[in-house]
Amino acid sequence: MSGRPAVFLDRDGTLIEDRGHLSSPTQVFWIPGATDALRRLQDDFLLFIVTNQPGIAEGLLQLEQVQQVNLYLLERLAAAGITISDVYVCPHRRTDGCQCIKPFPYFLQQAARQYGVDLGRSFTVGDHPHDVLLGQQVGGQGIYVCTGHGWKHLQELPPAVPVVPDIRAAAEWILACSPGARQLGCSASEIQQAAERIRSGGLVAFPTETVYGLGANALDRTAVQKVFQIKNRPSNDPLIVHVGSLQQAQSLVLEFPESARRLAQRYWPGPLSLVLPKAPCIPDEVTAGLPTVAVRMPAHAVALALLWQAQVPIAAPSANPFGRLSPTTADHVRQQIGQQVDIILDGGPCWVGVESTIVSFAHGQPTLLRPGGIPLEQIEELIGPVQIPASMDLPGQAPGRFPRHYAPHTPLVIGWDPPLEAEGKRIGLLCLQPPPQREPFAMVEVLSQTGDLAEAAANLYAALRRLDQAGLDLILAHPMPEIGLGRAIMDRLRKASS
Ligand code: TXA
Ligand code: MG
Repeated sequence: MSGRPAVFLDRDGTLIEDRGHLSSPTQVFWIPGATDALRRLQDDFLLFIVTNQPGIAEGLLQLEQVQQVNLYLLERLAAAGITISDVYVCPHRRTDGCQCIKPFPYFLQQAARQYGVDLGRSFTVGDHPHDVLLGQQVGGQGIYVCTGHGWKHLQELPPAVPVVPDIRAAAEWILACSPGARQLGCSASEIQQAAERIRSGGLVAFPTETVYGLGANALDRTAVQKVFQIKNRPSNDPLIVHVGSLQQAQSLVLEFPESARRLAQRYWPGPLSLVLPKAPCIPDEVTAGLPTVAVRMPAHAVALALLWQAQVPIAAPSANPFGRLSPTTADHVRQQIGQQVDIILDGGPCWVGVESTIVSFAHGQPTLLRPGGIPLEQIEELIGPVQIPASMDLPGQAPGRFPRHYAPHTPLVIGWDPPLEAEGKRIGLLCLQPPPQREPFAMVEVLSQTGDLAEAAANLYAALRRLDQAGLDLILAHPMPEIGLGRAIMDRLRKASS
């Protein structure tokens, strides 16, 4: 009989902050994103909490107090529409010699008997190496989070364990890596094949939450050179290296400054690339000879699954010819470079729609190299002021910054009215919200009915593409507010108009 897969969640440091022996619900502080993560997981998995509470045996805390905290957690989760099948507590000290303390899989076996859990397809998540061993011992997969005591014990982990920033990222992982999960746009065997292609030096186009990437093994210079050839990309424009775990990211850099770490912790997986001093294993081809490397953990489940199966970091620029519009669907990739790539993984339309924000830590003070999917405001809120170079567009000053980029073939101008010399020409309008009148435009593309800048960013490249294919003489883009994602939109429009 094959039962249902489950996720066994550690409590302290994984779902809620680890503040020592919690004796009352007033001491509960949720780890950000925990409820969302569980809500996503429960469609495909039974959920359990497994917690070691040695404070009970040590006399620091009573079983009733622990149960009161657990009851409170279950009530809060139930109010958020989340069902936890059972909560298992080990009240012993390690020296007591019990069988239920993690990493013994005692409670997992109990769940298999009581709830028909299929342990081989199940996951454990926690901030201690014990939580990982727990899953591995029953043939499942252990996932390590860096919240709680995660950073502290990172070095004690066995190799090849997925290390993710937090429970939210762990949920992405689990959904990406379990064959039956419904989030994925392509099958597990397609991803497996693509991973083998990457490992053997081939190229794979794959979805991320920002745009589709054209990926190669970042440690294989010949494969990386092929990426430059296909894109017709100048060799002085460095690539972003995509990673599937924090451990992998750490292995690619010499230093991970505290504020970079905080950003990774909060926004990975997500549309943020961090430029850090590079480790010697990264070939010069990837970084255009620079002593730094840009790393990012993408949030798309297909990208994470690919990275995990490939077990190598993947260097990937956007999957379009150099300087042209970035692809936000698999069809865009097929149209632009379909003939030249080995495999195109289809993960549906990208939901962020503009490339990652790039923050450099190369020269001490964090510096914004490209506005993107994570708004500058959110970055500064977390780490304080970020420098914005006066001329981000001079190659040499900020490598890989070229004035004309992300461009349609049709000329594009930014402004409220068409230029006088365009009188009588076929003009298309790109605007944030519906314009008061459609005259004199031959075509109008509205990015968001409600003026939502995140929605506008998600629609930007596809709208530009439609305008570009309409045989227009000119595209007029209305200026957008430069706040939130508007900053990235305006950056791309300026580059398209240059
Ligand atoms: O969202 C994204 O970042 C997408 C997806 C595929 O992940 N990738 C992407 O890559 O936009 P690409 O190649 O289009 O842009 C990479 C840019 C370079 O042009 C350069 O500006 C910057 O990243 N970059 C990469 N490595 C750098 C480094 N070591 N120092 C400074 N800038 C770097
Ligand atoms: Mg813990």
